[in-house]
Amino acid sequence: MFGAVQLGLLAACIVLFVPMGMAGWHLSRNKVLFFSGALFITLAVGVHLTPYFPSLSSYLSSLPPETFVPDRTSCIPLLHQIEYNASNLGGSWSWDDSGPVSACGFEKLGRTDASDLLNGSWVVVAGDSQARLQVLSLLNLILGPDEMGSVRVDLFKRHSDYQIMVDETGTKLDFVWAPYVTNLTDLVMKFKADKNYPDVLVMGAGLWDMLHITNSSDFGVSLRLLRDSLDSWLPISTEFGTDGPVTGSVSIRSPHLFWLGMPMLINTMLNTEEKREKMSDDLRSDYDKELYRSRLLRQSGGPLLLLDIESLSRKCGAGCTMDGMHYEAAVYETSVHIMLNALLIESHQKL
Ligand SMILES: *[C@@H]1O[C@H](CO)[C@@H](O)[C@H](O)[C@H]1NC(C)=O
Ligand SMILES: *[C@@H]1O[C@H](CO)[C@@H](O)[C@H](O)[C@H]1NC(C)=O
Ligand SMILES: *[C@@H]1O[C@H](CO)[C@@H](O)[C@H](O)[C@H]1NC(C)=O
Ligand SMILES: *[C@@H]1O[C@H](CO)[C@@H](O)[C@H](O)[C@H]1NC(C)=O
Repeated sequence: MFGAVQLGLLAACIVLFVPMGMAGWHLSRNKVLFFSGALFITLAVGVHLTPYFPSLSSYLSSLPPETFVPDRTSCIPLLHQIEYNASNLGGSWSWDDSGPVSACGFEKLGRTDASDLLNGSWVVVAGDSQARLQVLSLLNLILGPDEMGSVRVDLFKRHSDYQIMVDETGTKLDFVWAPYVTNLTDLVMKFKADKNYPDVLVMGAGLWDMLHITNSSDFGVSLRLLRDSLDSWLPISTEFGTDGPVTGSVSIRSPHLFWLGMPMLINTMLNTEEKREKMSDDLRSDYDKELYRSRLLRQSGGPLLLLDIESLSRKCGAGCTMDGMHYEAAVYETSVHIMLNALLIESHQKL
């Protein structure tokens, strides 16, 4: 950055040497004087007016510091590069430490950081028992162990909604029991009718559909209806929200949307005959195809970032499940940390 003194010296040099240089060529003395005067006036006016226009650098330094976090959106596809420790399946996992992944600097957030990130935000998680386990992991992170005891009891009342307000941080968390995609669509329509949108919305369904409807093309139809309801709802565009004021929490104008994928199903371990019969690997793969075809997910041009429970549960393996469908806490804990890191990236923040 030039100070006034350097600028003045520069101006003086130009006024002196440019016309002298020209005179060395073939200008008359009058012309040299004329150019000299014109240059002097231009530079003097420029120098004196400059302070009245905010310079680019002072404008930039007035922006909040998180604006300077380099764009890490290229890290998002690497978020699922997780490894579980085979000798400690209950709890220990980490991001793999290969070059590109470690360069992204993903972090397991502690209670304070997670609370700061979600400060003042409204988070809605809607779906089946997988979504409930996701909520449990999230609360485990942001609440203390004492509060967690009573939460666990309430949250595990089967097939019911659950709501909690974390007073210290003003974070509101809703679990909405929504085992079918139509229930998710209804929920989105309700947000739209109320003109009241959560900051973070996590949705997922499919297992109940596989078991009770058992028709992948119907599943595809309901997914496309959900996609339509999201298209008509999303405030400005389906572009994931990089606009809007960033205020230290994730609450910005466009909501952050996630799809909670189905887990790996281990057919022989499923706990009823009906499940083993209907929830076959073939049906599972047809349901996945419909999900991609529906263009709900960002991989296929949609608005939702996939929390890939299938890939996480596959990595954790058969040792991580008792019933071939619900997995150890480590799996849902990982997906919570993947979500929080995605939120950090999307809201251009760094811890
Ligand atoms: C895996 O877990 C075991 C038991 O908790 C621990 O001793 C070991 O260091 C862990 N290994 C890695 C690579 O983290
Ligand atoms: C949450 O945000 C409010 C205002 O934005 C602030 O006063 C409060 O200290 C924050 N709480 C935490 C735990 O960060
Ligand atoms: C979810 O949708 C199903 C099928 O459309 C419906 O029967 C059920 O009542 C809905 N459940 C809730 C909680 O809205
Ligand atoms: C799925 O439902 C559609 C109608 O929605 C029907 O045409 C089709 O035969 C069903 N598929 C199976 C495998 O039952």
